[in-house]
Amino acid sequence: MKKLRCVKGMHDILPEDISKWHYIENSFRALVGRYRYEEIRTPILEPLDLFIRGIGETTDIVEKEMYAFSDKGNAQLALRPEGTASVIRAFLQNNLDSISTISKLYYIGPMFRRERPAKGRYRQFYQAGAELIGVEEPSADAEIIAMAVHFVETLGIENVTVQINSLGDEDTRPRYRQALVEYFSKLQDNLCTDCIRRLDTNPLRILDCKVTGCAKAGAEAPSVLDFLTRDSSQHFEKLQEYLSLYNISFNVAPGMVRGLDYYTRTIFEIQGAGELLGAQSTIVGGGRYNGLVKQLGGRETPTIGFAFGIERLLLLLGEGANHLKSNFAFVAGVGNGDVTRAIIVAEQLRRSGINVDVPYKQGSLRAQLKRADKSGAVVAIIAGEDEYCRNAVTLRNLKTGEQQEVHLDTLAEKIRELM
Ligand code: HAM
Repeated sequence: MKKLRCVKGMHDILPEDISKWHYIENSFRALVGRYRYEEIRTPILEPLDLFIRGIGETTDIVEKEMYAFSDKGNAQLALRPEGTASVIRAFLQNNLDSISTISKLYYIGPMFRRERPAKGRYRQFYQAGAELIGVEEPSADAEIIAMAVHFVETLGIENVTVQINSLGDEDTRPRYRQALVEYFSKLQDNLCTDCIRRLDTNPLRILDCKVTGCAKAGAEAPSVLDFLTRDSSQHFEKLQEYLSLYNISFNVAPGMVRGLDYYTRTIFEIQGAGELLGAQSTIVGGGRYNGLVKQLGGRETPTIGFAFGIERLLLLLGEGANHLKSNFAFVAGVGNGDVTRAIIVAEQLRRSGINVDVPYKQGSLRAQLKRADKSGAVVAIIAGEDEYCRNAVTLRNLKTGEQQEVHLDTLAEKIRELM
């Protein structure tokens, strides 16, 4: 019978890689905790309408990439393509604004986009993200960017750049839209069919198109920064001052628009360099989305956040994170043909906080030690009958081959010294 495989663009995360995942997730939890963010977990399945209204009907995510379907009761559902819309839905549904005027929330979990699979681009991928709800001041924008940059630094990832831009506010958007329509209308011959359609529906999205002709035409397009209101302009300037305070180097990228429609004012990306990422250079993406809470039925509320793809960070971590595997001991069974003593010693060690593997079934000592070494154990404990009568075992350093007899009372301590 033909073996079943997982869905194209989706992956199993195997035990040999999981320590790196834990490392990233734990580092993220520790970092956002220092800024006083709390975890929120939302369902993977949401009403389809949430993303149509939240992300924008004419974005690539909604038009082309959503896993959307109707269930057996004809409810229109979608696998979440990102976390922000879900967090705001949960914020509103659970009246989190009645608990505090400021909510600081973070999440880690799988997202789904039916994109063309490539290195660093998958159909199920994991995002970790943070959302700061209720603060309008540019100091919040700076903190969000600083948190993302510090996180990438914490992982030891180097050669990244921070790109920032401002998309202005609701006074900016119609004037900038008009300018883009006028500019791109003259260049229609160079645009792909999608972008010709976008001229009517969402001209901002043309700036995000990767097709060569559109990208070339977009390079000379009017800059959104020339359309900012005084308030938005001041907000953007103040943000840059704060970023210097955090010692963060950045580039202003007037052509960057990001792929989701909810952004207002500040947007930013952290981009990696080199071949490890393939063509996907963006590791972290985020920005302000002051209109989303109202759009989803709440009161006008300023909001800003970011998310990064865990798989992309993993590509950059490379082999450097191999030391993260946890150390463990192996207790070999010898002597009278069963593994009784091995089980007793192993259990005692586990209760002292040592990770321990056992053979389950008796084999030759040589074969057991070979297996222990191969599986990556740091030490082996040989619970032979004679020593055991003296409440002792033989402790073998699997790296050097050195052995010593150790009393059971001091065994855990001795193992810790070797790990
Ligand atoms: P995004 O730029 O669409 O933003 O995604 C954020 C990050 O998720 C990307 O920078 C990338 O690392 C990762 N990512 C996106 N798509 C894929 C994929 N197909 N495969 C692997 N990784 C991927 C958002 O999702 C916004 N919700 C970010 C945000 C939070 N803005 C404000 N708050």
